Amino acid sequence: MAVLVTGGAGYIGSHVGHALLDRGEQVVVLDNLSTGNRACVGEDAVFVEGDIADDSLVGSLLRHHAIRSVLHFAGSIVVPESVADPLGYYENNVVRSRALIQACVGAGVEHFIFSSTATVYDAEAPQPLAEDERKAPISPYARSKLMTEWMLEDVSRAHPMRHMVLRYFNVAGADPQGRTGQSSPRATHLIKRAAQVALGRVPQLDIFGTDYPTADGTGVRDYIHVADLAAAHLLALDALRAGAPSAVYNCGYGRGLSVRDVISGVERVIGGRLAVLESARRPGDPPVLISDPSRIKRALGWTPRHDDLDEIVRSAIDWERRFNTG
Ligand SMILES: NC(=O)c1ccc[n+]([C@@H]2O[C@H](COP(=O)([O-])OP(=O)(O)OC[C@H]3O[C@@H](n4cnc5c(N)ncnc54)[C@H](O)[C@@H]3O)[C@@H](O)[C@H]2O)c1
Repeated sequence: MAVLVTGGAGYIGSHVGHALLDRGEQVVVLDNLSTGNRACVGEDAVFVEGDIADDSLVGSLLRHHAIRSVLHFAGSIVVPESVADPLGYYENNVVRSRALIQACVGAGVEHFIFSSTATVYDAEAPQPLAEDERKAPISPYARSKLMTEWMLEDVSRAHPMRHMVLRYFNVAGADPQGRTGQSSPRATHLIKRAAQVALGRVPQLDIFGTDYPTADGTGVRDYIHVADLAAAHLLALDALRAGAPSAVYNCGYGRGLSVRDVISGVERVIGGRLAVLESARRPGDPPVLISDPSRIKRALGWTPRHDDLDEIVRSAIDWERRFNTG
C-alpha cells in the first residue's frame, strides 16, 4: 500500500519522500514541477508529473496504488508573490487543494497530512505560540493555508478521513546524506541565501530591518532542521494509522535566533565574514515567531535530533555546493 506525496519534488516533500523510502514505504510522488526538482525525488519512488487538481489523474493514482495516506506539500509558498498575485495563490493553494481533498474523500483515503505555516498566527500574540493561540494571517499565502486547514477540519467532521496539520516554523538545512535540499531559484529563506553568499554565488545578504524590538534589532525566528521536520511527518502518519484523531501540531524547536545570530553561525562555520547589507523592514514581517512545540513532543513523542545551528548551516552549504555544480 503506497503513500501519495504531493509536491514531493519540492524542498520539504522530497525530504519526507526520502525518509519514507528509508523505512521501506512505497512512495508515489505527484508534482507538476512548477518549482520542484525531479532529481530530488528518491529513485525508488514512483514519480508522476501532474497537477493535484487533475481529478481523473489523482483518482486513478489513488485507486491503482491502493493509497490510504496522503501527505500534501504541493503549493505556492512565496509571501510577496502572494501579495502581488492573490488570486493565483488562492487558486493553487485553496482551489486545487479542495480538488485534491475531494478526490481523496471519493477514493476512501483515510489519512491526510497537510503542510501549514506559523504565519497563520497573530504575530502580536504572546510568544512562544501554542496551537490554540489567536490566528491572524496577513498575507494571501498565510490566509490560503488557514483556509485549507479549515476545509480539512470541516471535511473530517463530515467524512471518515482524519488529518493532521503540521504548522512549520522556519524550515532550514538539507538532507544529512546530501540527497536533496532546497533547489527553488526564487527561495528567499535566510539560511539558503546565506549559504549562497558564503559560496560567492550571491554578492551579499540582506538584513531586512535592524530596528525591531528584539535584543539586537533584527527579526527572531525558530529555525527547524528539515530532517527533524521529516521525522515529525513520519510520526504523524504512524499516529493516524494507529487511529489517532485529527490534530494540529507546531513544528519548531521552541527557541528563537535573530538574523544576526544566524549570520554569526554561518561565519563560524565558514571561518570568514559574510557581506551583509542592512535594509528597511519588509512589510508584514513580524519581529518574533517562536513555536511552543510541547504538543507534538507529548502526543507524538517527537524528539529533535538536529537542533544545532552549525549543523543546519553546514548541511545547507553542502547542498548548495552540490546542487549548483550537479
Ligand atoms: N519552506 C518553508 O519554510 C515552509 C514553511 C511553512 C510551510 N511550508 C509549506 O510546505 C509545503 C512545501 O513547501 P516547500 O518549501 O517544499 O516548497 P517547494 O516550492 O519547494 O515545493 C512545493 C512543490 O509543490 C509542487 N507544486 C506546486 N503546485 C502544484 C500543483 N498544483 N500540483 C502539483 N504540484 C505542485 C512544486 O513543483 C514543488 O515541487 C508548502 O505547502 C508550504 O506552504 C513551507
